[in-house]
Amino acid sequence: MRRRPADYRRPVRRRFSYWIWALLGLFSIAGFALFVVHHHHHHEDRVKQPALDKNARNKRVAHEHLNFTEEILNVNSYARQLAEQMTLAKAYVIIAKEHNNLHLAWELSSKIRSCQFLLSKAAMRKESITLDEAESIIKSISSLIYKAQDAHYDIATTIMTMKSHIQALEGRASSATVQSTVFGQLAAEALPKNLHCINIKLMTDWLQKQSLQEFADEKRSSPRLVDKNLYHFCIFSDNLLAVSVVVNSTVSNADHPKQLVFHVVTNGVNYGAMQAWFLSNDFKGSTIDVQNIEDFVWLNASYSPVMKQLLETDSRAYYFEGSQDMKIEPKFRNPKYLSMLNHLRFYIPEIYTQLEKVVFLDDDVVVQKDLTPLFSLDLHGNVNGAVETCLEAFHRYYKYLNFSNPIISSKFDPQACGWAFGMNVFDLIVWRKTNVTERYHYWQEQNADRSLWKLGTLPPGLLAFYGLTEPLDRRWHVLGLGHDLNINNRLIESAAVVHFNGNMKPWLKLAISRYRPLWQRYVNHSHPYLQDCMTSSNLVHLNYG
Ligand SMILES: *[C@@H]1O[C@H](CO)[C@@H](O)[C@H](O)[C@H]1NC(C)=O
Ligand SMILES: *[C@@H]1O[C@H](CO)[C@@H](O)[C@H](O)[C@H]1NC(C)=O
Ligand SMILES: *[C@@H]1O[C@H](CO)[C@@H](O)[C@H](O)[C@H]1NC(C)=O
Ligand SMILES: *[C@@H]1O[C@H](CO)[C@@H](O)[C@H](O)[C@H]1NC(C)=O
Ligand SMILES: *[C@@H]1O[C@H](CO)[C@@H](O)[C@H](O)[C@H]1NC(C)=O
Ligand SMILES: *[C@@H]1O[C@H](CO)[C@@H](O)[C@H](O)[C@H]1NC(C)=O
Repeated sequence: MRRRPADYRRPVRRRFSYWIWALLGLFSIAGFALFVVHHHHHHEDRVKQPALDKNARNKRVAHEHLNFTEEILNVNSYARQLAEQMTLAKAYVIIAKEHNNLHLAWELSSKIRSCQFLLSKAAMRKESITLDEAESIIKSISSLIYKAQDAHYDIATTIMTMKSHIQALEGRASSATVQSTVFGQLAAEALPKNLHCINIKLMTDWLQKQSLQEFADEKRSSPRLVDKNLYHFCIFSDNLLAVSVVVNSTVSNADHPKQLVFHVVTNGVNYGAMQAWFLSNDFKGSTIDVQNIEDFVWLNASYSPVMKQLLETDSRAYYFEGSQDMKIEPKFRNPKYLSMLNHLRFYIPEIYTQLEKVVFLDDDVVVQKDLTPLFSLDLHGNVNGAVETCLEAFHRYYKYLNFSNPIISSKFDPQACGWAFGMNVFDLIVWRKTNVTERYHYWQEQNADRSLWKLGTLPPGLLAFYGLTEPLDRRWHVLGLGHDLNINNRLIESAAVVHFNGNMKPWLKLAISRYRPLWQRYVNHSHPYLQDCMTSSNLVHLNYG
């Protein structure tokens, strides 16, 4: 790395207000103390790996003319898994070196070499890598990555450091192995290690249990998925536990959970784990459909401007490295905004062509009341039912959009009230009639040079749904649990949906402890995978929170 560590830290620090930093400091000290105390006790448990099936182990798939480029891009191949772990390991080598943790850096580097050796061996003999060959390396790299994640506490700075390292690695390497942007996001978001652990266990189930895949195929053709008399919810996310909490909290508070249908879309890396989880847990008889965004062939660069922009190298560099503009808030640099999953909300009528009304939920919400009355609210001919955000704060259009630009100032009122994504009712019939997706495409194209707004889905949402948004009672959707320490308890209790928007997500150590139990209570802590994966310092920390 050319840059010294101080260079990337300084601008970040300036953007955070001082109290946030004071708070982060406290969290880090507390976290570090806990880490030191419990590191010894839990070290062995943490690296436990899923048991691998003996039958799968002996299967060797021999291909006559294996195309190794394809193999490495195949989500389910061991080559892909190895390549992805290698990318993450490389980023951690840099971080470990910067923190003078030379032994860890050395251990990681030696595993990376074994990985490269195995990949090149397989490429030369033109055969798939078998589980037998991959198992021990995958295991040992995983345990090192867990160790690295533990040593380098996942606060916002580390997350951003990871992101720039991965970008730097991707920029230098020309091989297909580090081109997986999906994995880049996964790594850059520094997924807490317990979640990573659960994902690995579930993924193993999915790959090994034929019955799960058959069950999934069977459910895919269920007439309930398109039944207009049922209540349909959409959740687009790459975070398994988060989606589980959204679904579980919704059904737990519903008067008639069997009438609820959840449409989940995730990415290739998480698809198997997500399927395995929802097929093997009960959510009060509700229907849950899981799809992989990578299967949406229609969602390609020639159709979707944002897809095209995401694939262009200069914007990728921008999204990953951040710009020099000091006014951009840190949250805008979150790699989540890079994710196409985030923009999928603008394609709901196209994904669910037969549905007429849906409720859209972000993955960082918790539902606390029955949501079915939302479906009978009168939207007065509007497309989007949302809570407004300009009541006490000053979230008006001029805050989000560049009104110096005539194309904006001639068409929009700068004082128009902003609203929030996170819990929205969408009337898909009016949506299709008013071409909201086309409007979104239009504005996204106008913003190719990012002069209208910087990043995110709210600004194009404000433009696309302008004049088509129905304000809802604010108790439907209470915001700020991921950043605001002073939300009134009565307001939280009265809320149908609470939203952990902000950086302090309830699944991170960074979470605000007063609000975390609202989310925690919808996690099944007696599930064996959670028990196995939570034995590290996380569980200890939860007891404190
Ligand atoms: C292998 O697959 C890649 C991507 O699908 C393709 O570009 C390449 O031409 C293929 N190579 C051979 C030798 O078939
Ligand atoms: C891209 O998507 C459009 C429709 O959205 C579709 O007609 C076209 O076939 C797709 N292209 C590819 C290469 O899949
Ligand atoms: C929506 O698009 C269609 C076809 O592109 C057009 O005929 C129709 O007038 C548009 N509707 C509105 C409200 O702009
Ligand atoms: C806002 O728009 C104006 C006019 O197009 C442009 O000159 C300016 O650079 C834009 N501001 C930002 C921050 O992009
Ligand atoms: C769902 O939430 C309930 C608490 O309301 C909890 O007891 C249960 O274990 C959760 N289920 C899952 C699958 O997480
Ligand atoms: C939690 O998970 C365990 C193991 O899968 C299951 O036996 C139990 O019924 C679940 N508890 C609830 C309340 O769903």
